[in-house]
Amino acid sequence: MNRTNEVLYLKRLPDLRERHLAGNILLEGANGSGKTELLKQVYRSIYWEDSPIVPFYYAFKTATLKASIFAQDYFTQFIRQYISFFSKDPSLVIGRGLSPARAIPPSAAWLLDLMDEFEELRKAGDFCGQLLAAVSAPAHAAAMSGKPVLIMLDNFQMALRLYETTPGDFSGLAGFFESPMKMNLCPHIVTGTPTETLESVFAENAFRGTAERMVLRPLPDDVARALLKSFCDKLGIREERETSIRFVRFLACNPLYIKCIAHSIRRMGKKEATHRDLWESYSHEVSEGEIALYWSSILSEALREPGIRRLAVRLFMHLAESNGEVTATGRLPRMLGVAEAEVKEVLAALKCAGFLTGTTGYKVPKEPVLRDFMHSLYMQDIDSKTPDQVRELIRAKYSEQGSPDMCFEIILPSVPDAELIAAKAFEQIAQTLKLQPEVTERIQLALIEACINAMEHSGSFERKVFLKFRASEERLEIAVESSGRFFDPEAVEDPAIELKLTSANKRGWGLKLIQSIMDEVRIERIDDRTRVLLIKNIKKEEVVHDTRKLQS
Ligand SMILES: Nc1ncnc2c1ncn2[C@@H]1O[C@H](COP(=O)(O)OP(=O)(O)OP(=O)(O)O)[C@@H](O)[C@H]1O
Ligand SMILES: [Mg+2]
Repeated sequence: MNRTNEVLYLKRLPDLRERHLAGNILLEGANGSGKTELLKQVYRSIYWEDSPIVPFYYAFKTATLKASIFAQDYFTQFIRQYISFFSKDPSLVIGRGLSPARAIPPSAAWLLDLMDEFEELRKAGDFCGQLLAAVSAPAHAAAMSGKPVLIMLDNFQMALRLYETTPGDFSGLAGFFESPMKMNLCPHIVTGTPTETLESVFAENAFRGTAERMVLRPLPDDVARALLKSFCDKLGIREERETSIRFVRFLACNPLYIKCIAHSIRRMGKKEATHRDLWESYSHEVSEGEIALYWSSILSEALREPGIRRLAVRLFMHLAESNGEVTATGRLPRMLGVAEAEVKEVLAALKCAGFLTGTTGYKVPKEPVLRDFMHSLYMQDIDSKTPDQVRELIRAKYSEQGSPDMCFEIILPSVPDAELIAAKAFEQIAQTLKLQPEVTERIQLALIEACINAMEHSGSFERKVFLKFRASEERLEIAVESSGRFFDPEAVEDPAIELKLTSANKRGWGLKLIQSIMDEVRIERIDDRTRVLLIKNIKKEEVVHDTRKLQS
């Protein structure tokens, strides 16, 4: 576990609360960032420490959204965990009904009264009475015993969806927590996703000022890599530090994604997590693996109708193409050929489930994993691609772009000024590499010379120049290829400078110039092509560290 500081702070919460140094905690964090894991860690740690604090963990679930079922479940869970804590018998927590009554310690005999009272309310069908009794049970126990109860409520967003007989007929559960949350002996840690939904609950009157935010940040790069390594070690898979670090960064250092990828590599029967293996398992994970399953279940939960889900995917992909927040959604119904009310409803549901963010409008989160998941749904459901095709398309997308090296190819026609296109394309790479403008200009010069040489010397009927760029932070390689006559460097004579200065033909200096700019120039014959490979090792001082300089 690598959230030691967070665990320590949360464990101290009852003490801090007693001294009025802390309130309740609203634990915020992205999907899969480890909120549940953190609460479980706090729970386990308090449970086995013989602490005076009683831990109570409750996760809201879809199966208990009917308020009376929730009340019974919450109450039962609390009683079981309370008794289990004193008897140090974890098996008491599992199971149904209230059989552990025999394990109640004599000092907590009042628990029996609490259980009887709850049973009476249940038999009488007193809906509000049951809810109140359940939600106040921990506070009641704390008041009776004088022992603080640390209440951890997971997936609290679901509390807002509780209903009495049909979904949507009840909206008051959060209000039931108002009084226990104000009690000093009962600090609450509340968590769930999306953050916006939770924050909106705590912005309401009854809760305002009762909770402070604690943000669970993504793991630091090296910790995230260590997590991937530890999963791989357990599964007998070898990995390499640099490759893993780059990859976990792409995954926003999210523990859920990291774990899914490690398992997927294992399922593929790999013994190594090479760059290629990682992207292969990613393309599988995001289109049909556990990551896809995770997001699919959240999507189906938010939108139960398959037809509506398809509309949601189309809307999402539509918004993904716009940069930033879209506030004017008026055109969407016409563009997608659906009713305005339907579009509004789906947008609201997507926002509520965390697929979209935005303050006044709608915005697709930057997170590439969620985007890729929605994109793969789009390809399957709307473009009718097969799972194999989808996987391959996703893999291909990253085999270059996400690779340690940035690579791409351009084909230039042999026409006047075509070399300027190459120079322009390089400008973009140089910006990504944050090269100093003077360095960029010199490389552009070398590139222009190499392109002109290729066009002039090859004499091929194909009349094309093939460029391949490969760049990493430390090294740049540009291959300039043309078919036709072999361009033999040995045959290039050093031109006499005086002659060149007076001649209309300034060519011939190209190669010298290129060699003076690049660290290495290789001229090779590859099949029927001549390849001039320009290599430059990028030094620290050739990079702009303050990016504002590049923009000015
Ligand atoms: N710090 C960590 N170290 C090791 N594994 C972790 C860590 N945090 C989370 N995990 C693992 O990653 C997965 C996702 O974590 P978890 O379910 O706690 O995330 P979450 O934030 O609660 O997700 P959700 O938003 O879906 O509720 C789990 O399998 C968990 O065991
Ligand atoms: Mg969770």
